[in-house]
Amino acid sequence: MAKEQKNEVMEKVVALCKRRGFIYPSFEIYGGFAGFYDYGPYGLALKNNITNVWWKQFVTDREDVYGIDSALVTKKEVLQASGHARGFADMLSECEKCKRRFRVDHLTDTKKCPECGGKLGEARQFYMMLETHIGAAEDEASLAYLRPETAQGIFTNFKNIVDSFHPKLPFGIAQIGKAFRNEIAPRDFLFRVRELEQMEVEYFVKPDAWKEAFDLWKGEMKRFVSKIGIDVAKVSELEIPEADRAHYSKRTIDFEFEFPFGKKELYGLAYRTNYDLTNHATASGVDMSYMDEETKEKIIPHVIEPSLGVGRSLLAVLLSAYTEDEMNGEVRTYLKFKPSVAPVKVAVFPLLKNKPELVTKAREVYGTLKKEFGAVMFDDNGNIGKRYRRQDEIGTPFCVTVDFDTIEKDQSVTVRDRDSGKQERVAIAELQSFLKAKLA
Ligand code: GAP
Repeated sequence: MAKEQKNEVMEKVVALCKRRGFIYPSFEIYGGFAGFYDYGPYGLALKNNITNVWWKQFVTDREDVYGIDSALVTKKEVLQASGHARGFADMLSECEKCKRRFRVDHLTDTKKCPECGGKLGEARQFYMMLETHIGAAEDEASLAYLRPETAQGIFTNFKNIVDSFHPKLPFGIAQIGKAFRNEIAPRDFLFRVRELEQMEVEYFVKPDAWKEAFDLWKGEMKRFVSKIGIDVAKVSELEIPEADRAHYSKRTIDFEFEFPFGKKELYGLAYRTNYDLTNHATASGVDMSYMDEETKEKIIPHVIEPSLGVGRSLLAVLLSAYTEDEMNGEVRTYLKFKPSVAPVKVAVFPLLKNKPELVTKAREVYGTLKKEFGAVMFDDNGNIGKRYRRQDEIGTPFCVTVDFDTIEKDQSVTVRDRDSGKQERVAIAELQSFLKAKLA
């Protein structure tokens, strides 16, 4: 696809997200705030569906993973021990004329400002953690950070989980939550933001078992990608060379996705060794070792970390689902979501709004389906063609219409399939089981 066409797809998806209530730029009435986005009703439903699929697969379907939810504001000692307070930085150059800063690794000419052509200054480190102060005084002692990854809250709870649950190695601790990074160049919609959300597992293993665990989680990540409807043909793995790996990693692979703006990191899988637990043990003075009851040996477990961004998942799902075709001689736009992530599973309409008998029956059908499927919508606004188009644009897999035949003839309704646009008549008595099978 040509570059302009790809940009056009991105623009269309961003516009659809705003128009249809998925994602809004934060604080837009005040001119927006770069790198921050708010989720509207459908975006929130899509996000919750994605995180629920992840939680089920990575936590509840397993016997060896414990879920937690730890504090966002993080004591500075934690991030000093983890290496983030010194290591979590980008090399930046500042333009002497317009004062804009640029990541050196994003520049083609390191001497000239790409915006105004001014002279770029010496490259220097720019720390990416967001700071805050806790307590009455604003000084060095009250300094705290908004966490840059959810992982550190997991490492600082390692001992709690071991003491409460006595898990056998290997076992994991998982959490989903916000993280904050003062990205110098937030861009590409949800791709690089300053307030992000991550789904992470720290999987603790015996030191000689890391390779096996690495492969296990690589497989789980692949399974997740296809489960939520990301186009697997656009996903590839990249082995990260040592020089480009995070300070804690001995092996990293990135899962990359072909975004319209280039092939970029979707998720990361890292072998963090025992770097974090060892450093927290040294810095806190608390013993972080694990007693292997079988061998009576004390070890500091090693860690495999699958780390998945929620926003990047959403963007890859939206881009994979975005489809244009022609229907009834018109260009149609629709989101081909998998039913498991679709914000609305079924929409129910009366054929005409001004016929009380149709509305009453449609409300009855809607009530029954809502009890069964939850995310069911009633719509009687505008003509039927417009309602179908609205549901197509938000990716609703099925639309059910109550018409005159329903009342006068056969107590059946039409069920329209989003992707083919085909309709079939289904008896109301069989509607629930019909849709249940289709949505499974
Ligand atoms: N705990 C490991 C870690 O945080 P990372 O590669 O820095 O590793 C993991 O981030 C994942 O978090 C990325 O693969 C991506 O999905 C997401 N992510 C990271 N920075 C992001 C940002 N600024 N905006 C959106 N998502 C981001």
